[in-house]
This record gives sequence, C-alpha cells and structure tokens, in this order.
Amino acid sequence: MLVTLKTLLTDAKKQQRAVGAFNAPNLETIRAAIEAAEELQSPVILQHAEGHDSLIPLAEIGPIMLDYAKRATVPVAVHLDHGASFDACLQAIRLGFTSIMYDASSKAYQDNLKETKEIVKIAHSVGVSVEAELGHIFTSALGGGEGRAVDPEEVYDDVEAIYTDPEIAKEFVLETEVDCLAIAFGTVHGVYLKEPKLDLPRIKKIRDATALPLVMHGGSGVSEADYRTAIANGICKINYYTYGNQAGGRAVADYIRQVSTDDQLFFEDVVTSGTAGIKADLKAAMAIFKNTI
Ligand code: 13P
Repeated sequence: MLVTLKTLLTDAKKQQRAVGAFNAPNLETIRAAIEAAEELQSPVILQHAEGHDSLIPLAEIGPIMLDYAKRATVPVAVHLDHGASFDACLQAIRLGFTSIMYDASSKAYQDNLKETKEIVKIAHSVGVSVEAELGHIFTSALGGGEGRAVDPEEVYDDVEAIYTDPEIAKEFVLETEVDCLAIAFGTVHGVYLKEPKLDLPRIKKIRDATALPLVMHGGSGVSEADYRTAIANGICKINYYTYGNQAGGRAVADYIRQVSTDDQLFFEDVVTSGTAGIKADLKAAMAIFKNTI
C-alpha cells in the first residue's frame, strides 16, 4: 500500500529502526525491493534520483513505482531522491509521489533555507512529505550518480565545513518545517575508496537538537555495527543503491560464466539472475535496518 514518508518514518523513529530507501531506475530493482520487503514484512521506500533521469526519466519509471507500491502487501513510500529543481519536485508531486527530497545543499545556507521553505509549503498543501539536506554528502569517484560529485578527499580534512552542525540543523528544521533531514557525518555516495570513518555521535546531537527522523545517504558499504549505532542514534531512513547495483552485476557475470556456449545465453535469464542478485543484497540490508535481529 502507498503511504507517506512521514508516516513510515514516524513509526520507524518510535520503534528505533530504519527503513531502506532504494533507488530503482529499472523494473528489476523495483521488483527486487518489493519482493524482499514482502518476504520480510518490512516497509520500504522506492526512490528515483533526478540524476538517474539519464537511465530512465521520472515520467517513465514513476508510474511503475507507484503501481508496485499500491499493489504491495507492505507499506511503501514513493520518493523523489535529490530533486535539484522545483520542476522535478512538482513533476513528482503531480505523478503521485508521496514524498520529495529538495536538495539545495550545495547552495549558500540562506538560499537552501529559503527555497526549502517554499517547496515545503507547496508539498505540504497536497499532503506530500519533504526531505532536505544540510551539510554536504559527497559522491565517490567510483559509482554513485546521485548527489554532488566532488571528490571528498579534497575537503576531508576540514570536516566541520562539510558535516551537519546540530545547532544550524535546529534552526533549519524549525524554519523550514521539513519532515526529515539528510545529514552529513562521513558517508559518501558510490563505492568507498577507503574505509568510512563515521562521526556517529554527531547523529545523536542532531537528533536531540531537531527531534526529526534523520536520513543516511551513502548507505552502501557501511558496516553492520555502524548501521546499528547510526539507527540507535537517530537514523530512520537509509539510502542504498550502489551495492545492490553491484550485486546485480556480479550475479549476471556469474551466470554468464556458467553458460557454456553463446547460443545458450538468453537475455531473460540474464535479467532473472541479475534480479535475484539485487534482491538477495537488498533483503540482507533490510533485515539489518529492521533492527529486530
Ligand atoms: P549509495 O551510493 O551508498 O548506495 O547511496 C545511495 C544514496 O544515498 C542515494 O541517495
């Protein structure tokens, strides 16, 4: 069933768990995410990043995401990830998405505040939830494809300049009235080029200052222990794409290696093996995010 992000995250916050938010720029990932969620009886978020419009435009994939969400036996929010323009946000709202992320985090703070406030008014007037970003979550040189593409190595030494400040977050949330906040504390989009060192206590400080459900971007490649601490400290939504995408790629490569001659190679089997690889990976992630084992 289709639900708002606010409903999902309010419940998750009360129950100290997180909901997986999976970018799904193809039918296979949508099916994998829904099947995994139904098997685990877990709520789930299907999301489309504006940056993935080059793979498939929002207007094409959006109605399919909504159709799967409505027919699912578990609660599903359908979300626009990293909306960089009002146009993309309004398009998602018109399609029937139940939440949007307006990402003005690369702009000056006052512009981020002003524009986010404006989009919140519009979205809330039609019952759509809003996520914003404060601080800068970068994209690794390998993989990714959403968010801001800057090599974090360049600026990593001055974390205070890029990580989310709890006091500023408090002001931002009060002023904008967003429903959840994406925060920067060391995660990056794409494949980690070195082991992530996360500032996990910062999450708790931001939660205490804002009382909002918080969002981890760059959820692929985080250790199980760090996921659990992040959830205990206030993370309620975990954005996850890269490792599921790689798992699908690996499953296809394994399948192709097993086929002895080219005339035995069929596209439908390639798709089936890739979908199974994505599903197994997403299901393992969801089981951790549920925080019940
Ligand atoms: P990963 O690249 O770590 O999977 O993160 C995806 C994400 O944060 C989408 O917004």
